[in-house]
Amino acid sequence: MSDKKAGAGLAGIVAGDTAVGEVTQTSLRYRGYGIGDLAENATFHEVAHLLLHGELPTRGQLAEFRERVCAATTLPAEVTGAIKAMPNETPPMDMLRSAVSLLGHYDPEAQDISHAAALRKSERLIGQTAAALGLWAQKFSGVAAMRPDPAASHGANLLSMLLGKPAGAKAGRVLDGTLILYAEHEFNASTFTARTITSTLSDMHSAVSGAIGALKGPLHGGANEAAMRMFLDIGEPQNVEKWFNDVQAHNKAHPDNKKLIMGFGHRVYKHGDHRAGILRDWSADMTKETGQTKWLEMADKLQALMLEKKNIHPNTDYPAAHAYYQMGIPIPLYTPIFVCSRVTGWCAHIMEQYENNRLIRPTSVYIGPPPREVVPIENRS
Ligand code: COA
Repeated sequence: MSDKKAGAGLAGIVAGDTAVGEVTQTSLRYRGYGIGDLAENATFHEVAHLLLHGELPTRGQLAEFRERVCAATTLPAEVTGAIKAMPNETPPMDMLRSAVSLLGHYDPEAQDISHAAALRKSERLIGQTAAALGLWAQKFSGVAAMRPDPAASHGANLLSMLLGKPAGAKAGRVLDGTLILYAEHEFNASTFTARTITSTLSDMHSAVSGAIGALKGPLHGGANEAAMRMFLDIGEPQNVEKWFNDVQAHNKAHPDNKKLIMGFGHRVYKHGDHRAGILRDWSADMTKETGQTKWLEMADKLQALMLEKKNIHPNTDYPAAHAYYQMGIPIPLYTPIFVCSRVTGWCAHIMEQYENNRLIRPTSVYIGPPPREVVPIENRS
């Protein structure tokens, strides 16, 4: 299945300039600020302001920003009705993709691609995606409706909407932290999708809907859910080694159908994803409250084996799985939480693309049949 031809999957290809985020093999920065610094010293609201407006906010700017995001959590009644009417078995990522598309129908500025309008829509989308996911939690898990508190962090508000009760202080802070870690990552598959759609001068809601579709896959955002299902499949820390050996035996026996170990590997970080280390420690801290130590124990064991035997490091989705599980969040909501964060990075890139646009249209190497002529249908065998 894997085609390791140079450039396959656009690996190593520089596809453009960006001032939003910088990913190197050893670092991640949002507009110049290191991710560890932001994770420790900022909130998601501040980081979202940084990504969208270019600078960290002052106290006054932050208060206004929070008010605007919070106000946007009141969805148009038509969108609320449409979400409630979706089949129960709709994957929540599909619900969010459709919800964002529908939100475009009711946004008076949907077709306005000016910077000022794009900025306003970006802020609205942060509130709206959280509200749509909160509404889905009511439908999906039957939780109580919770109104977000403009004085609380976005993470605490989102968590309270997902659980139908006020978020605990530690869990709220950790969820907010994961939103910071997930907010931006340069030209990853979903952001590149958003930029490609934008490059045709299409609208922001189309670009974000497309990005959600790209994020859904298990090789991208879907990995946090897949990692938690893997932990549940392993069951207990003492099963890790046998489980790992069984996967290796399967891969040896079926080289054309290898099983991936979800939450490991990265296109750029071949020596480790430092977001994963930050989140692992937050999740470890949460176990002091939840007492759920076995997931972390299992994760650490599997991580050690992967490093020793395969030299592959975990990515952010790996600790996100056991952190979200400890919070009691239903697994199908993990990747949608990623949307509620990454929508910020997507919108920052969409605005950057509008500002310095050239249609994204690469070329390909043709490997199909040589030139031939159409045989009339009655003569075809
Ligand atoms: N489990 C087992 N083996 C893995 C692996 C994983 N999670 N990730 C990479 N590898 C192996 C590959 O099979 C490949 O081995 P090979 O050379 O013998 O074929 C080698 O490591 C290099 O990986 P490659 O497929 O070239 O990396 P990539 O840059 O194309 O893909 C990912 C990166 C993220 C798509 C890939 O690591 C993956 O599928 N990870 C699991 C899904 C995941 O966690 N996604 C979230 C990404 S943030």
